[in-house]
Amino acid sequence: MSSIIEDVMARKLFNSRGQETIEVDVVTVDGFGRVGAPAGASTGKAEVVSYPKGGVDAAIRIFEELVVPELIGMDAEEQNEIDALLHEIDGTDNFCNIGGNTAFAVSVANAEAAATSYDLPMFQFLAGYAGNELPYPLGNVLGGGKHALGKTTDIQEYLVIPLKARNFVEAATANIMVHEKIGAMLRKADPNFTGGRGDEGAWAPNIENEEALKIVVKACDEVSDELGIEVRACLDVAASSFYDPKKQVYVYSMEGKKRDSGEQLEFMLHLIEEYKLAYVEDPFDEDDYESFAELTKKTKNCLISGDDLFVTNRERLCKGIEMGAGNSLIIKTNQIGTLSDAWETTKIAKRAGYVPVMSHRSGETPDAHLAHLAVGFSCPVIKSGVLHGERIAKINELIRIEETLGNRAQMAIL
Ligand code: PGA
Ligand code: ZN
Repeated sequence: MSSIIEDVMARKLFNSRGQETIEVDVVTVDGFGRVGAPAGASTGKAEVVSYPKGGVDAAIRIFEELVVPELIGMDAEEQNEIDALLHEIDGTDNFCNIGGNTAFAVSVANAEAAATSYDLPMFQFLAGYAGNELPYPLGNVLGGGKHALGKTTDIQEYLVIPLKARNFVEAATANIMVHEKIGAMLRKADPNFTGGRGDEGAWAPNIENEEALKIVVKACDEVSDELGIEVRACLDVAASSFYDPKKQVYVYSMEGKKRDSGEQLEFMLHLIEEYKLAYVEDPFDEDDYESFAELTKKTKNCLISGDDLFVTNRERLCKGIEMGAGNSLIIKTNQIGTLSDAWETTKIAKRAGYVPVMSHRSGETPDAHLAHLAVGFSCPVIKSGVLHGERIAKINELIRIEETLGNRAQMAIL
């Protein structure tokens, strides 16, 4: 069996929002990998640059000219070398020359090609025999922000996590049940509700922020009772997207209210305590490490997670660890470029006791690699939505992985 790269190619196709994206094929002597890159809407300022000037077309031209000749003949098994080569060809620290999404697609397709070269599922190639833990699915059930049009919640995502689920199928079922119940409750609360959903398949109602949370918690409680598990509500505030840096306030349009950072801290503490939240992501602006630290110190039994804050970047994470900012983080490989970079950040997080959450983006492809990355990196949580084809693709793949693992499968420790 050989994982020597024989061919690499790139094409332009579309993500779930209909935006152009890059897909890369890596062909080895005995394997094949194919990965399309996702895209964010509420992106962090410190993320790598997705595409060079000229967009996907330019990225493909540069890829063909500079990357392809270098890759052919290399061994896909040497992931570190492949990723180092991508950095070297780009020559910057933000992938602005070849594009972070090109780096992402090459890097992950390479891992898949290496895995299939040895007839292994990708999660097993990444984790070895020890990779047998299924993550808890953190699923988006309601929201707005930059993921929906018109008047809806300022808080971007209301999510649920089915703690104490006995296996992944049960966990996925729980999230789907909550999503369905919320739809019925929203319809009852507002006869004009059309059933509209945002980019990630979450309901996008015209409703105030805290009212929405009440509905989500009620649905969680009902499903918890029905299944005998503990479904808890969570939030991705994505606070940078409604922070006014000039006035230094968070602008809550639905309530016609502005909160300064002290008031925002109080509001977050209130929501966490009142609704027993299990997880809160980006409760403050992406540069406000101090408030993250303050909130982390003041909360118990709730993960405080950085997405726009850390952008999967090890320097930003190390600063956060030093300051005690958060105790969890989002891992989005294309925020940082390569698989090796994402793994480095994940390892640092684990060593510091931060819970890594392997995450989709709001613009996704129907690829299922995210499921393999979650199990392969032993992330106890995967954030990948509840419904819509491109989200359910990851959930269904985890169901297959659970089946592959058979008796060895177990839910992660969280
Ligand atoms: P994205 O963000 O739109 O940048 O993918 C989703 C999120 O904030 O988690
Ligand atoms: Zn986020």
